[in-house]
Amino acid sequence: MTQLETYITENENRFLEDLKGWLRIPSISTLPEHAGDIRRAAEYAANQLRQMDFEQVQLIQTQNHPLVYGEWLKATGKPTVLIYGHYDVQPVDPIELWDSPPFEPTVRGDNLYCRGACDDKGQTMLVFKALESLRAVHGTLPVNVRVLIEGEEEAGGESIDHYVRTYPANLKCDAAFICDTGMPSKEIPALVNGLRGIIYTEVEVRGAKSDLHSGAYGGVAPNPLHTLAIIIAGLKDAEGHIHIPGLYDKVREASEQEKAFWHDDPLHLNEMLLEEMGVSQLTGEAEYPPLERIWARPTLEIHGISGGFIGEGAKTVIPAIAKAKISLRLPADLKSDDVFVLLERRVMELAPAGVEVTVRKVHGGEAVMVPIDTLPIQAAASALREVFGKEPVFIRGGGSIPIAGLFHDILGVPVVMMGFSLPDDNLHAPNEKYSLSQFFKGIRTVARFLQNMG
Ligand code: BES
Ligand code: MN
Ligand code: MN
Repeated sequence: MTQLETYITENENRFLEDLKGWLRIPSISTLPEHAGDIRRAAEYAANQLRQMDFEQVQLIQTQNHPLVYGEWLKATGKPTVLIYGHYDVQPVDPIELWDSPPFEPTVRGDNLYCRGACDDKGQTMLVFKALESLRAVHGTLPVNVRVLIEGEEEAGGESIDHYVRTYPANLKCDAAFICDTGMPSKEIPALVNGLRGIIYTEVEVRGAKSDLHSGAYGGVAPNPLHTLAIIIAGLKDAEGHIHIPGLYDKVREASEQEKAFWHDDPLHLNEMLLEEMGVSQLTGEAEYPPLERIWARPTLEIHGISGGFIGEGAKTVIPAIAKAKISLRLPADLKSDDVFVLLERRVMELAPAGVEVTVRKVHGGEAVMVPIDTLPIQAAASALREVFGKEPVFIRGGGSIPIAGLFHDILGVPVVMMGFSLPDDNLHAPNEKYSLSQFFKGIRTVARFLQNMG
């Protein structure tokens, strides 16, 4: 065993305790009542960096939640790696479906259950612990490191977007490393070479000046909920085709190699999809392989509809207002602002007369595609090979990490997306968890990756 191996093995329990302490802070970025928790979670991350003798450790104030920054730039002549993570988490509802309280880290078998266990406190903490282990064993780091952790990734990430565009010189680096993605299974190590972008919107429909008795006015009153139903039905059909003129015009063709991988599906990821979701059939565009549908096609989803009466029993009401949350995932070359305009136009076209319809942008972020033949990606691939004992595969992710594209475009550096989450980690859902073996292997892999970079 190398000294590094020994150090990691001997400190596994403490690493886990440090993660648990962070997880107990309910840093939900989208809910204003958690602003204090957000701050505490940011301080917790800053303290982790201080304990490793990082310099310039600070909370950078923004319009919304603070960024956490720290640097260690003493590896003269070595490349600089910018490390990104996020300390904010998703809301916990429906809370009754959790088997243990969402902010009480609980170990069951090989898994640690808690909101944020995986996304992204677990994956960020493992990077901290890789850094700590390298410092402890070698007294130095193999590369220069800047760490930038954000607190509103799950709410759109506007503040970090603004910071990176305004102060690119503060983030000067040779490569960026994002530990916020996953692999298909414990046996299939993976690197992510592309993510989709997103445009998230809220459609609001207003009818009468107040709620109405449906007997007194049904037949003459506009019904905002029904209007929404018409709009939603007009946006996407049962075959998964989105009816927004112009949407598909710019979709970038994937390489022949990627298309063959999606089509042939040598790792049987399609079957895994059915099982992961617990459904008997996949939906969507039948003319594209499922992997292409989630990784490289535009998709549209309704996340929630509100309005009218949803309590027990019955209430004969025509609501005055109804709202729907609607988002689209966008493959490379579909710009979120452009798609917003197309969506808005289409919604207006679908809306019947007599109601007032507005489409509001909640947040947007761009897709990212990274070439895989760069040295940093090869350094990551070697690290995965060494620790997992298998050849890593290149996959795309259907989710979005808006900052990835910005690092690529504004800083002009290769972006390594290597994470250790598993398909059954319940990201954003009740009983989010992280596999302990993935957490500890992740520490080893990231340490090797940084050594390879050096
Ligand atoms: N870590 C995820 C993104 C992710 C998930 C990438 C799975 C690859 C595979 C990230 O925290 C996330 O959830 N992003 C949001 C972004 C949005 C709120 C701007 C998403 O994808 O919904
Ligand atoms: Mn994440
Ligand atoms: Mn997330």
